[in-house]
Amino acid sequence: MDIRNFCIIAHIDHGKSTLADRFLEVTGTLQKREMREQMLDMMDLERERGITIKLTPVRMVWKPCHSERSRRMNTTSHFDDAQCDTVYELNLIDTPGHTDFRYEVSRSLAACEGAILLVDASQGIQAQTLAVLTMAMEHDLVIIPVLNKIDLPAADPERVSEEVRRMLGCKKEDILLISAKEGRGVEKLLQAVVERIPAPRPLTLAAPLGRGASSRALIFDAVMDTYRGVVAYVRVVDGSFRKGQEVFLLGTKGRFAVQDVGHFSPKYVADDELSLGSIGYMVTGAKDVKLVRVGDTVADQATAQPLTGYKHVQPMVFAGLYPSEADGYPDLRDALEKLALNDAALSIEHERNAALGNGFRCGFLGLLHMDIIQERLEREYDCDLVITAPSVLYEVKLGVRQPAGVVRSSLLKSDEPDTAQISNPADFPDASCIAEIREPWVVLEIVCRSQDIGAVMMLTQERRGTYLGLEYLDANRALLKFEVPLQSIILDYFDQLKSATAGYGSMSYEPMGYRAGDLVKLTILLLGDSAEALSTIVHRSEAHAVGAIVCKRLKEALPKAQFEIPIQAAIGAKVVARETLGAMRKDVTGYLYGGDVSRKLKLLKKQKKGKKRMKQMGKVQLTQEAFLSVIRRD
Ligand code: GTP
Repeated sequence: MDIRNFCIIAHIDHGKSTLADRFLEVTGTLQKREMREQMLDMMDLERERGITIKLTPVRMVWKPCHSERSRRMNTTSHFDDAQCDTVYELNLIDTPGHTDFRYEVSRSLAACEGAILLVDASQGIQAQTLAVLTMAMEHDLVIIPVLNKIDLPAADPERVSEEVRRMLGCKKEDILLISAKEGRGVEKLLQAVVERIPAPRPLTLAAPLGRGASSRALIFDAVMDTYRGVVAYVRVVDGSFRKGQEVFLLGTKGRFAVQDVGHFSPKYVADDELSLGSIGYMVTGAKDVKLVRVGDTVADQATAQPLTGYKHVQPMVFAGLYPSEADGYPDLRDALEKLALNDAALSIEHERNAALGNGFRCGFLGLLHMDIIQERLEREYDCDLVITAPSVLYEVKLGVRQPAGVVRSSLLKSDEPDTAQISNPADFPDASCIAEIREPWVVLEIVCRSQDIGAVMMLTQERRGTYLGLEYLDANRALLKFEVPLQSIILDYFDQLKSATAGYGSMSYEPMGYRAGDLVKLTILLLGDSAEALSTIVHRSEAHAVGAIVCKRLKEALPKAQFEIPIQAAIGAKVVARETLGAMRKDVTGYLYGGDVSRKLKLLKKQKKGKKRMKQMGKVQLTQEAFLSVIRRD
């Protein structure tokens, strides 16, 4: 069978999942009655939110001229005789569109020879389309440009074709026009897939199979199955794999007997063999989730050459995750380990906090990623969580002789022993020990309408962004580039961008390294005690404004106590903002009726005395809203 491995890349909501549905229908992979919309978005969460979070592979067998639909619609005329006699195995990987899940996309790209670049004909190219396209080109994939949603009245295929043509440098005839919703042009697109995308070829050309060459496969994903252990999703690069065969994991030095192999339909379907170029699954039986690592190579010989894995992803946003009840810690640990298995972008590390107890410092690719993990923990694993304010990873150069005495030695960089990598503001040493604080910067790309350029400039420059350049995609749309500190765009920048551009703006960003900045730790004091879990790192120029907003928000978010709670924001010992949360007062005089006012005053005085005692012992309850109020800046 002729194999074609491909994926669909597109900006969020441009119609990838809908197109995948049409492919499943046209190829007869799923019967109509088995279909539901966005078939490959398997998680409930994906379906509810209408976004793809995880890559999903599916194998379709396609005989161009044999499908009833193609005969009925008389589409067989597109094919020549040789094509009509061929049966194709089409392996499709549906990928997420949001920039936070770029890592999922990069793994899919490494398993394929070609990609369909799907662009919404009513919206045109977006910032994320450009970012993903660059990745696809780095992997040397064949790109098939496709305009979707041509059925919409707002579709402007002429204009968008021109954008795509300029970006890819392709011919106008190479661009296909489809409507994934109506199925128009879908079969022609499949034909382009088999014609333009090459069949997979073995990598080990020097040693032909059967003469000592090894079979190798790249693990591009892995999931934990309660009954079968870890199931690895693989792309066979050389040779083939069979059930019962003994195999080696070259990276983790693991070894296991293959319990089962098969393909995705999109459910698991067992096969005798996974052959060269195929995409399928391998049941390892491993119970230890850490043994089967995404990016590792499975081979039939322990001495085989490992394949180039994936670039190690560096999480960008960090936050503390704590169980709301102390005894929830073991469950949270198990759940996080399972999630981290097929989400290499999620990093986890134990952390302890005086107010919140035992928990984890987790690293995410962005806020949506964090949001999704939180929701999955709550829904799939029944964990009740408190999450602290997200922050980036700072580099803190210490101006002391014994750095290990000032911060935990595990935070110190191995190649720069006087510098610590710190994401938790609570771990920051005293300002007197710090020589310099460096923060991560990114190159930010924004695609917007020409009339919104001014608003985008203002918004980004307010966030300490520096303008790099501007390029017109066509007469009405521009691509803007900025350098900006990551911390100032991770929180609410995207929402602000959407409102500044009436929903037309889109963004993507790439890390560009660390830069020193005048950064300070903004400590929040509740009742005069520092609440470390609420501290944040801010630029000195923003400290007053941020402090005032955070205090105000905390005043609204914190539950009232029986006593007054002063809420202060401070840099070191200097208080920069203050609010007071009034006390909840029980009506101790309610039963009095008439009489002398001094009785009432006496009762209130007594109440005040009682409260004073309570305040000394009292603790302020930190709620999830309190943490949220620290992160929102609008
Ligand atoms: P993510 O998974 O979030 O990246 O989105 P996606 O690219 O998979 O988009 P999806 O397939 O979920 O489609 C987004 C919306 O566009 C849905 O409401 C679809 O019904 C609609 N849509 C997709 N294709 C077409 C089309 O050809 N015409 C029209 N009119 N609507 C379409």
